[in-house]
Amino acid sequence: MTDIQKIEVNLPQQPYYIYMGNNVLPDFESFLPKNLKDTSRFFIADSHTEVFARKMAPDNSIFVVPSGESSKSFNVYEDVMNFLLDHKISRKSLIFAVGGGVVGDLSGFAAATALRGVPVIQVPTSLLAMVDSSVGGKTGINSAQGKNLVGAFHQPSAVICDFDVLKTLPERELKAGYAEILKYALLGDADFYDWLEENGHKVLALEPDALSYAVKRSCEMKAEIVIADEKETSGQRALLNLGHTFAHAFEALMGYDGRLLHGEAVAIGMVCAMELSVRKGFLSAQKVERVEQHLSKLKLKKSIKDIELEENVKPENLLNIMRGDKKAQDGLITFIMMKEIGQAFLCSDIKDKEVIDLFNDML
Ligand code: GLY
Repeated sequence: MTDIQKIEVNLPQQPYYIYMGNNVLPDFESFLPKNLKDTSRFFIADSHTEVFARKMAPDNSIFVVPSGESSKSFNVYEDVMNFLLDHKISRKSLIFAVGGGVVGDLSGFAAATALRGVPVIQVPTSLLAMVDSSVGGKTGINSAQGKNLVGAFHQPSAVICDFDVLKTLPERELKAGYAEILKYALLGDADFYDWLEENGHKVLALEPDALSYAVKRSCEMKAEIVIADEKETSGQRALLNLGHTFAHAFEALMGYDGRLLHGEAVAIGMVCAMELSVRKGFLSAQKVERVEQHLSKLKLKKSIKDIELEENVKPENLLNIMRGDKKAQDGLITFIMMKEIGQAFLCSDIKDKEVIDLFNDML
């Protein structure tokens, strides 16, 4: 275990730390809050991340769910709850979510609702989960009406990121996680963006210093935003949705079957948001080109043309899905626009026709 970094998420009700470093899992005990050291433990993992949970836990305390988005369902949630309740979970127990965003969201929601709330430790095993979903307390499952529509805010008691687990992550998933790192730079830190242009390839090659800096900076920014606006009421946390309203529409049309990963959709969605910002006169066109070049250099998806949407998809279909997103209110979409690299803001003043024209030109 070398060079552990520690970031505080200093929320008044539930302050906690994000720990990160190489080979930290064998020593996970040392990162648990003192009051949670001697309690019964339950580990939730999926078929890919079970191997990491087994390093932390005796066999009978691990529940393995199928890998993939389909596990964020009422059925799998019920299976998890039955496992926890059959094994006599108590409010003093500790749940470990060992996996990517799906396991983190599902287990976090199980922790939020079992006995009205049991502490959870997030152990993210994908780059995307390390920089985004494991931090900030958003938990939930999907329903027939859409993604993440059933959920709760339930902050973890600690987040433990072991960079070594990323060594087995497919390159495509690393790139999807990188899109969320880029998001932080674009929405709020121009220097970080400059750094990513220079060093992004090192992050994707998992070079320890570059990876550690990128994850740390992303988590610092996420922590700052979550502290300022934990329940997404003042608008600050909504900035984290840069590119996401577009992304959710692309994902919904592709059907969450693995053909389009969330981070891939976010990269394309951020380019759409930037392009719309140019059309509105907020951002100069050269900035979008700069970001597109960066995405191309790292071979990340960047255009709607990079996804295999059905030929007959119409701009109106995409706009309708965007209106149904839970972030829309009464069908009114708040867009995250950019006026500079490193400066995003909320904007509700976008006409349907402007979005339709954008899609017509991009499809
Ligand atoms: N992933 C967006 C948020 O945590 O608010």
